[in-house]
Amino acid sequence: MPKLTDILTKFPFADGRKYPRLIRREEYSSALYPPDNAFTSDNTFTIVSTDTFMLGIYELGPGGAFDPLDIHPGDEFYYILQGPIVQRSGNGQFAYLETGDGLFMPQEAWHKAHNFSDQKVRVLYFITPKAWGEDIPPAYIPTDAETKFYKGPNNDKLPDMRSVIQNVSRQGCTDDIGSWPVDGKEARAYPQAVYTVRDCDKLNNIHGTKHPMLMRFIGSNDYGHFGEFILPPGGYGPRCSEEDCHGGDAAIFCIDGPITINLTQMQESFQLRPEDSFFLPAGTPYQLVNFESQPVKAVFAVTAL
Ligand SMILES: [Fe+2]
Repeated sequence: MPKLTDILTKFPFADGRKYPRLIRREEYSSALYPPDNAFTSDNTFTIVSTDTFMLGIYELGPGGAFDPLDIHPGDEFYYILQGPIVQRSGNGQFAYLETGDGLFMPQEAWHKAHNFSDQKVRVLYFITPKAWGEDIPPAYIPTDAETKFYKGPNNDKLPDMRSVIQNVSRQGCTDDIGSWPVDGKEARAYPQAVYTVRDCDKLNNIHGTKHPMLMRFIGSNDYGHFGEFILPPGGYGPRCSEEDCHGGDAAIFCIDGPITINLTQMQESFQLRPEDSFFLPAGTPYQLVNFESQPVKAVFAVTAL
């Protein structure tokens, strides 16, 4: 397998030319990260890394954590494939995330994950627009002592987050698309807070009216949109979503399938098995098709709707 740093912004498109492409789970590029010390690494699988976003999976064994803290020059969103996982932020938030929950971490928010369970945990992450700066790893990384935690030695020098963390308990609506769970720009201002989006708190909407598909946002802002599609079974012929076409690059990750992606203008279709992905360059019309007898579910990662 190539080094993670060698494939950044060019996976699976080595020459940078992007086209609609099925990426089977066997094709994901695996690596330890960080690569220099397996004792503190997560097991990471890159699905897509282009000039517009990064999509991947990381795994932590029972009792494990990755070290050091992580940071990105873009927003990061999580979908927990297998929890529970505890995500610690540099400013002293500890999010307990169960399978199916989501997390929004604005740009420049330091973070680190722990697995306190008796099984491997797995996280699908989406970072946009940029996953890494010029320095990999970053030139400055805070030590544990420079973060906030129970009886931390520097707690009094670090920001009090109680007035920073926004109350996100209001019921969501269509007008929240583009600023869910909070406004992206405001969330990126120092000191950054992170936001858990539990399965029951995802922003629900309906994609299409004649052939409705459930659309559930974990996050939606000026950098990207991340959430899940649920397409029920049944119809005259297979159940199909209505055609959509995004202004920015996107990827679809199959949770429950198989799901067929039909490229409506190109008359080409692809079948995604669970954990396969599909890359959709900006401006590619597509629909999802369900030939199964139960709902199918896919995560969407879209840079501009
Ligand atoms: Fe990260």
